[in-house]
Amino acid sequence: MFAAQLGIALDYRAIEAGREEFVDALARFAREGGRGANVTLPLKQDALLLCAEASARAKRCGSVNTLIRDGERWRGDSTDGAGLLRDLRERHAFEPRGRRCLLIGAGGAARAVAFALADAGIERLAIANRTHANAIALAQAIGATNVEAITFEELGVTAAFDVVVHATAAGHANAEFRFPRTLVAAHTLCYDLSYGSAALAFLRWARAAGATRASDGLGMLIEQAADSFDLWHGQRPDTAPVFAVFQHAMASK
Ligand code: ATR
Repeated sequence: MFAAQLGIALDYRAIEAGREEFVDALARFAREGGRGANVTLPLKQDALLLCAEASARAKRCGSVNTLIRDGERWRGDSTDGAGLLRDLRERHAFEPRGRRCLLIGAGGAARAVAFALADAGIERLAIANRTHANAIALAQAIGATNVEAITFEELGVTAAFDVVVHATAAGHANAEFRFPRTLVAAHTLCYDLSYGSAALAFLRWARAAGATRASDGLGMLIEQAADSFDLWHGQRPDTAPVFAVFQHAMASK
């Protein structure tokens, strides 16, 4: 859709490859003339390792979602964090600067988001995760005084946040979340990085907790894709019409 909008001839397809096949699949893709690729979970760390060069933000969060062919080598970048920030700002009118943020999860998906929020001038970022040690490790990797790991127990005695970002792999339509409702005030934006049915359980919890603003990550998906497209083609597409089409398609599922 981006290519059609900008009049660029493009063949963009899904290639399924597990961790074992990833390097070979990518080499084959390059031999066949592949010029750029998006990489999704759980291959984003592997992608960073095979890049001859990576952007500072990709190195910092240890993950690459965008590969750019440069002669015989791959350059890597990570557009996930920027995609979230753009969606928060433009689609949700939410400016993270000076805000109190809670991130639930500390895996690959959470990582890029944690760095992006920390860099966006937030007042405080609390990271809570099933395995507390992973939250501590992520907070330490960011290494800022306003970023801290908190336990699920501590969530029960913490004041409401301005934004609650859910980034665990636990969400599916039938899941049930039991986070304290006190995390949410009427103004709190609750945001799930997943979209479609994978976001339903968190959004259900958010609304039951009184959130008037709850969103899945469809906007982030489209914004990070537009940033990747820009890296390959030097032009950023208009995401609004693409978002509208996907939103409509998902609502009618
Ligand atoms: P991803 O790359 O998709 O983020 P990941 O790196 O395996 O996947 O991380 C998954 C995240 O979801 C982690 O924060 C994980 O918590 P742990 O660090 O304790 O593994 C979290 N997660 C996965 N299943 C979960 C569940 N059933 N309940 C709570 N958290 C879960």
